[in-house]
Amino acid sequence: MSDHTPFSSELLSGKRILITGGGTGLGRGVARHLVEHGAQVHLWGRRETVLAEAAAEASASRPGSVHFHAVDVRDYDSVDGVMGQIWSEHGPLTGVINNAAANFIAQTKDLSPRAFSAITSTVMNGSFHTTHAAGKRWIAEGLPGSVISTLTTWVWTGSAFVVPSAMAKAAVHSMTMSLAVEWAKHNIRVNAVAPGPIPTDYAWEMLNPTDKSSVGATQTDQIPAGRAGTIEELANLSMFLLSDACDYLTGQTIAMDGGQMLAGPGTFAGLTSLSDADWQQIRETSQAASEQ
Ligand code: HXC
Repeated sequence: MSDHTPFSSELLSGKRILITGGGTGLGRGVARHLVEHGAQVHLWGRRETVLAEAAAEASASRPGSVHFHAVDVRDYDSVDGVMGQIWSEHGPLTGVINNAAANFIAQTKDLSPRAFSAITSTVMNGSFHTTHAAGKRWIAEGLPGSVISTLTTWVWTGSAFVVPSAMAKAAVHSMTMSLAVEWAKHNIRVNAVAPGPIPTDYAWEMLNPTDKSSVGATQTDQIPAGRAGTIEELANLSMFLLSDACDYLTGQTIAMDGGQMLAGPGTFAGLTSLSDADWQQIRETSQAASEQ
């Protein structure tokens, strides 16, 4: 398991990176790693007190390197206003992580229009607002940029019981492919990561609401790697995409899930638990069958 970084502590020196939903969960965890690798980081979220705590935690290794702003990404005017403030007070961003999310498990028939909107407007509209507000500035000033959106493998498979989230994240996957083409000539790269389960307090509780659920999304016995992912692994992938390591990489949603998505029903993924003796038995049985 990765518990260290392969990168230099100055990999992101000179980079200025925004993380939406940076006060909690994955965003908060990744922020610390970006700072440890030399980046200035801006955290956005709805609650100032939570953001202040997150900023203090993330900047421990390099005091003064994390700033925070109360922004609801659903509100374009607020997004655009604070983006302009960052530009004028700190300088242009070099990267954006669309990490702000909203989600809960529910039967779709029980969702109200407000519930659908609370999730989709945060994930889909919020990711567009933030990407647009940074992108138009990069293009106007002839600056390169790197966008990463935090998605899930539901963008390829869909998922029951989290339909608004799956729909909205699929829309951001589409934005990723579309803008990669439209903005390549401006040296703006647009990628996404689709992490499998990575334990964070809120998401883990929300995705495991009852002891009966044992929901597939978090069951490590259904993951070929046999374990959940780590924030260090997500941070390492994000730092690679935010760095200058591979400017040719754009338009991709990269699954980082220990093989979980590919081990679905209809494959022989369940056979990975068999022993050599089991396989010998299978060989003998199948050879006997073919000789009949
Ligand atoms: C049914 C629900 C509900 C539930 C809320 N609602 N929770 N309906 N089941 N469990 C309904 C409310 O009744 C209301 O509708 C509407 O949703 C909006 O609720 P509010 O609380 O007013 O909205 P808001 O304050 O904007 O909160 C949004 C939220 C909340 C989604 C409900 O959980 C949130 O802000 N979450 C942010 C963090 C987050 O969820 N991160 C997700 C990380 S996990 P009515 O009609 O009654 O007014 C993730 C994927 C993980 O993204 C993948 C792992 C593999």
